[in-house]
Formats: sequence, C-alpha cells, structure tokens
Amino acid sequence: MDRGQAFTQSASNEAIQRTRTIDATSENWPFEVARCSPAIGAEISGLDLRQPLDDNIYKSLRSALVRYKVLFFRDQDITPAQHVALARRFGELEVHPAFPHHEAHPELVIIGRNDSKRGHENLYHSDVSWREIPSMGSILRCVTCPDIGGDTIWINMAAAYENLPVEVKQTLENLNAVHDFMPLFSIAVDEARHAALRKQFPPVLHPIVRTHPESGEKILFVNEAFTTHIDNFGMHTKDHYRFGFDFKLAEMDLLQYLFRQAQAPEYQVRLRWKPNTIAFWDNRACQHYAVQDYYPAVRHMMRATIIGDRPV
Ligand code: SIN
Repeated sequence: MDRGQAFTQSASNEAIQRTRTIDATSENWPFEVARCSPAIGAEISGLDLRQPLDDNIYKSLRSALVRYKVLFFRDQDITPAQHVALARRFGELEVHPAFPHHEAHPELVIIGRNDSKRGHENLYHSDVSWREIPSMGSILRCVTCPDIGGDTIWINMAAAYENLPVEVKQTLENLNAVHDFMPLFSIAVDEARHAALRKQFPPVLHPIVRTHPESGEKILFVNEAFTTHIDNFGMHTKDHYRFGFDFKLAEMDLLQYLFRQAQAPEYQVRLRWKPNTIAFWDNRACQHYAVQDYYPAVRHMMRATIIGDRPV
C-alpha cells in the first residue's frame, strides 16, 4: 500500500467522533477522558492549562499520556510563557538548532507556514530522534490554521511493533539504526552552518526496538525522516558472506518495510486543529505526520519539546 492509499483510508474526523468513548478505567483522574480511536489518542476536558498543574493533575496527565500516547485539549488560550511552564512540568526543554523560535522563549519552536513557506513536516517521524537523547514528548499549540486541511496524524508504534511477524521481531533483536539530522535539515539552515552542525550533531545509533521507560512496551523506533540505515546489518560477515549489493538491498528493504508500518490506518488517529487546540504526544511511543494539503493557507503552530532519555 502506498502513502496515498494510506491517506485516503485514514479515519475521518467524523469517524473518530463516532468511535469516541469515555474511558471507564480513568474515572479517578481529575479530568474527563474521551478516547479518539481504538489504537491511540484521547481528548482531555475539564482542565485549564493556564494554571500550574498540581501534583495530582500532573501525575494523572502523565499516566494518561503513557496510556493513550497523544492527548488533545481544546480551547486552551494559553500564552507562550504558560506553554513553556506547562511543558517544563514534564521535564527539561530543548532548543531546536534549525527551526525558528519565539523571540522571548527559545524553547518554543515556531512552525509558521503560508504562501511563501510550505510545510515540510509531512514525513512520519518522532521528534528529534537524531539526538543522542531524543525527546520524551512534544506539546504543540495551534495559533492559526485553515478551516479545512492541515490535520496531524499520530501513530501507535507499540502496536506497530506488536503486530510484526515473529521472524521479523527475531531479526530486529539487538539491531541498531543510525539517525541523522543532516539529510532533512541541511536544506533548512545556511550552508555556512553545516560544518558546525555536523560536528555538534553527529549521526547517532539507537536500538530499532526500544523499551518504553514508563510502560515497558516495546516500540518500533525507526522513522522515514531521520533513520538513514541499519548499523552492522548481520549478513555481511566473514562467516556469512553475501555480495555487497545484495546486503545493501536487503537492509534497505527491511528498513522500508519497517517505515511502512507507520502508514497503517489501524494504528493511527487524526486531529482536525482549531486555534487553541493543544496536542501533547509521547515521542518515545508514537510517530506523527503533518498533512501538507493546505498550501497556500496560513498555518501557525508553536511547539515545546521535552527532553527524554537514552533509548534502550
Ligand atoms: C511536528 O512535526 O512536530 C509538527 C507537527 C504539526 O505541525 O502538526
């Protein structure tokens, strides 16, 4: 199935609306939870994110994030300072080396798209997987969006791993993949900065299957945006010699196969944005894809990215 087919088969917002159910297991949490698809995502209501989170709300939200992988909040008219404070409750924040950022809050990436700047977040990815210590989560607020178009899709990568055939799971055991910032971002930064960025962010190795540090779930952790190749793919050894081209193609086939798992609508949820909608997702457990169907309309978002831990 190619990406076009996957797109047309993704659940529509109306379908998400129909399948939305209140989650009975969350009744002790100090907010309401409505699941958005069987695989991933829940809408949280009954909270004002302008206020500092008390310990009970913080812990409950953290549990909800680990369980549903992406949380949606509507009508949250928060300031950039409140956005930063909310994200900081969950961990230290990074400053992105390539995206423009808010002038008073460098931790807020500005994703501003219009008729002269087309969005390019339409690749399945987990934010900053190219860092040695990738992100725990991202909190994205919609400032302006078109009436129609510019949705974002999230994908449950624990389900993607779980449903792999046993033989593929065995092949992936102990395999690492290389993640690199440069192939995608080198076009977004001045050539004069390339050498310094290359030095600051060398390619990094992460396990292809990581274990979520809070849920213990196994997660398929490669993505088409930043993963460049599989390290030390086991065919080309002294004892098990294969011709070079065969070895390379087999590695690329496996990686493409793994990338394609994110395109299955069964693992996805799709959000239709409105101004002041917030999405908070777990980069350790899901990928996302910003649909680029709205050009030349204006879509303006702000993102805070919480630093996580080394994948194991
Ligand atoms: C991102 O890739 O983090 C941005 C997603 C979006 O703009 O919807």
